[in-house]
Amino acid sequence: MARILIIDDHDSMREGLELLLRRRGHRTAAADGGARGLELLEELGADLVITDLKMARMDGIEVLQRVRERFPTTEVLVITAYGTIEKAVEAMKLGAADFLTKPFSSEEFAVKVERLLQQREERERLRLENRTLRVENTYLREETAAEPVVPRYSEIVGESSAMQEVFRWIDRVARSDSTVMIYGESGTGKELVARAIHAGSPRAGGPFVRVNCGALSESLLDSELFGHEKGAFTGAERKRRGRFELANEGTLFLDEIATVAQPTQVRLLRVLQERELERVGGEATIPVNVRIIAATNQPADELVSGNGFREDLFYRLHVVPITLPPLRQRRDDIPILVRHFIEKLRERTCSPVRSVTDGALDRLAEYSWPGNVRELENVVERALVLAEKEELDADDLPPMGEANGGTLRPEPVLTSDGLDLNEVVEGMEERLLRQALDQAGGVKAEAARLLGLKPSALYYKLEKYGIEA
Ligand SMILES: Nc1ncnc2c1ncn2[C@@H]1O[C@H](COP(=O)(O)OP(=O)(O)OP(=O)(O)O)[C@@H](O)[C@H]1O
Ligand SMILES: [Mg+2]
Repeated sequence: MARILIIDDHDSMREGLELLLRRRGHRTAAADGGARGLELLEELGADLVITDLKMARMDGIEVLQRVRERFPTTEVLVITAYGTIEKAVEAMKLGAADFLTKPFSSEEFAVKVERLLQQREERERLRLENRTLRVENTYLREETAAEPVVPRYSEIVGESSAMQEVFRWIDRVARSDSTVMIYGESGTGKELVARAIHAGSPRAGGPFVRVNCGALSESLLDSELFGHEKGAFTGAERKRRGRFELANEGTLFLDEIATVAQPTQVRLLRVLQERELERVGGEATIPVNVRIIAATNQPADELVSGNGFREDLFYRLHVVPITLPPLRQRRDDIPILVRHFIEKLRERTCSPVRSVTDGALDRLAEYSWPGNVRELENVVERALVLAEKEELDADDLPPMGEANGGTLRPEPVLTSDGLDLNEVVEGMEERLLRQALDQAGGVKAEAARLLGLKPSALYYKLEKYGIEA
């Protein structure tokens, strides 16, 4: 959800765009001229301004210049009429983030807006990280003690000993140029850690380039990573530099590395070993100077044990492994994370919430968090939207686990009070039996198959728990 200001002197255009954006969940304001638009901007602020270039009084170029001067973090998207491309080019030179030529479809419009908002968020994040880093660096220089310095990357929070260990690794590895492999379930903060390593490294001034290896088909991934020459394949109308080249002097983050197909693995291995590459369809050898950070949500042993991941590549990547533990194994991080997210999301959600009750924290601590920190962040965000008081209470929390088909049942934790193992195991067994029967539509043979049991074993267990199909 972003705050977007639309400036256009055509009523129907303005209203149409507003409607589209609102439907997508954004907050909008609108003005029929540049002067009024700038007033609104002063008053309300905005993440994005969308302005027509040709308007009766103050034209879009002037609006753009004023916004750039006074609101450096606000993006501007300009709308131009067909056949006035020079105007659009001028606008881009003056700092517009992008332009759109009339007529355009609502689809085109929506895609462009979302992409701009995403880029903006990315940039803001990097800016924050770099700022923290600058503070960090002065701090490091003044520090004379030999004890390890725990970096306070303000965006990554955690008090648990597991996270303290992760911080120490980030600190250590950031100073080197070693390849890093980050392991962790989905939503545990792998990307955050990758960015922190980059931001803390001597390469911080260079680019941080992320490639989501899982999102691209094999051939697309090849040309995405290594680039291609003109005519390398159908559709390659121009020469294109790959992400390796774009990341030169910086860091390349290979996300979801486990999904990379074998032929691409071979090419990757070669770049890691030789520090040079050829573009797809090209002959020239291009040297690259990049630091590699890779991430996967598979544990290291699963990655190599017969899952099609080359062992030689594995050892090239697994130079410094960092493992992010799932949230359920570091529940003592939950309170500080919740407070962090309240701070982070309060404004954006226009929430009155300032603090959180112990009752709410207790309830959050009971859940198993299959989606890890990301899921916690979503839950807090939804709670902030719903809450009406300054204190976030257990009643304000949305039902958890809906999206994951999970339940509210707490993941059993072993505390100093001990637990009854049989009871815990039987509870889980009964639940899974019921679930399997349910999924199998009551067909016992199918339920047995789902659970990897012989039908006779299933019958026995159903009887034991008194479950009727
Ligand atoms: N320790 C943390 N402190 C603050 N925010 C965190 C922390 N860990 C994760 N987050 C937040 O949780 C969300 C998910 O983090 P991130 O994208 O880094 O996870 P991931 O491990 O890359 O997940 P996936 O495997 O699904 O891509 C982000 O919004 C991130 O800001
Ligand atoms: Mg990720």
